Amino acid sequence: MSDRQVILLVDDEPDQCDLHQATLERAGHTVRATTSPKLALNMLDDVAVVITDLQMEEMSGLALCERVHAAAPDVAVIVLTGIGSIDSAVAALRAGAYDFLLKPVDPKLLLVAVSRSLERHQLRREVAVLRSTATLQGTAGLLGESPPMKKVHELIARIASSAASVLIHGETGTGKELVARAIHDQSPRAAGPFVAINCAAVPPTLLETELFGHAKGSFTDAKVSRQGLFVQASGGTLFLDEIGEMPVEMQAKLLRALQERTVRPVGANIEVPFDSRILSATNKDLEGAVAEGRFRQDLYYRVNVVTIELPALHERGRDILVLAERFLRNAAERNGRPPPTVPSNVAERLLSYTWPGNVRELENCIERAVSLARFDALTIDDLPERVRNYRAETFVVAADDPSEILPLEELERRYIARVVRLLNGNKSRAAQLLGLDRRTLHRRLERSAEAAKTRDAT
Ligand SMILES: Nc1ncnc2c1ncn2[C@@H]1O[C@H](COP(=O)(O)OP(=O)(O)OP(=O)(O)O)[C@@H](O)[C@H]1O
Ligand SMILES: [Mg+2]
Repeated sequence: MSDRQVILLVDDEPDQCDLHQATLERAGHTVRATTSPKLALNMLDDVAVVITDLQMEEMSGLALCERVHAAAPDVAVIVLTGIGSIDSAVAALRAGAYDFLLKPVDPKLLLVAVSRSLERHQLRREVAVLRSTATLQGTAGLLGESPPMKKVHELIARIASSAASVLIHGETGTGKELVARAIHDQSPRAAGPFVAINCAAVPPTLLETELFGHAKGSFTDAKVSRQGLFVQASGGTLFLDEIGEMPVEMQAKLLRALQERTVRPVGANIEVPFDSRILSATNKDLEGAVAEGRFRQDLYYRVNVVTIELPALHERGRDILVLAERFLRNAAERNGRPPPTVPSNVAERLLSYTWPGNVRELENCIERAVSLARFDALTIDDLPERVRNYRAETFVVAADDPSEILPLEELERRYIARVVRLLNGNKSRAAQLLGLDRRTLHRRLERSAEAAKTRDAT
């Protein structure tokens, strides 16, 4: 790295400053010096190493060390200490100092300590660079280069390191859980647990014990006390999936827990603190649920400090083919055969279908196609009927043949999806042109997405 490696000397005795500065400059280092620790804190730009005296009037070397460590963790601090204050040197090491030297300082030892610190600074920076590339690889599981997916990747990278609660919103099968994992994996909590709970799948009566735990004997089956998921996720991330399905009484308890950062296990009269980051997901229109009184507004604001809006698959253009390739390779591997190729007529069908079940539907479709494929290339016949027969135009033309007759609901779904696509995913505008309010449009899309999910399951 070509950037300058500046060493900052801090000592309230000007003579000492001059002495060390001369030693370091003779060895070819770039040195800045100040007699004021407070000023030193404003001089940290491009500094690699800080060398500070421990006993200073204005601010102790220990306090300086703590503040440098907090402001610029990759800056190495060396403290200079008299034989009588070894204790404070040890305290300084605890506060993040890298090394200490006894006074009077031996110039040779000073130079050795400085070059070691510079090396460590360099290493730290390399690790930081590596970590940011690893981060990119971390989201590699989440495929997609289309403009709306690029935005999602950028947002994940930006918010992963913060503690903010994130609400992930998107139709069924758009990858909400995958996004939650990507946030966790890129966060400083990556080494901690990732705990997920599907609020819709747990019976309401059990949700409270699941989340908060319970005390011994609090109900008949409870022989032992159990930790709730909030506490289990401490040091890591708690993912509240389908939060829109949470019963209202539970919402009040959740809100309280999030405000107090403690939970009260069922049947216990103590508060247990937790330290987990909260991510939630929903495919429902939560704002609508708030307006209709089915979801608490105060809770909505708490879980929704940041929103990640996942685009529907049909809004992602050629991402469809990128994903199809990946699923094709995975499925072929599982079937122990080379992946079939995707000829352009098949690709075209994949691109024009509306994918109401989104990425999950595509994944199922490709898996099925691979197991059916008889040749080295996929054919239209390997696709499920609804994809094979889908023609974007069918909703305008009258059926010529009884086999082309569509249920009205399907017709409506295709038309809505087509309009949304035509408007580049702008659902408000689509609702306006269709003469629906936005909420109704959402509900209709949701309903058809759910229908697709049931179709997939059968
Ligand atoms: N961008 C993506 N890249 C690769 N795989 C994806 C992507 N998005 C989703 N998938 C895959 O699609 C499937 C569905 O994703 P996921 O379970 O995260 O969706 P979801 O939004 O949580 O769905 P639901 O609302 O039904 O719970 C998973 O197998 C996931 O691995
Ligand atoms: Mg999910």
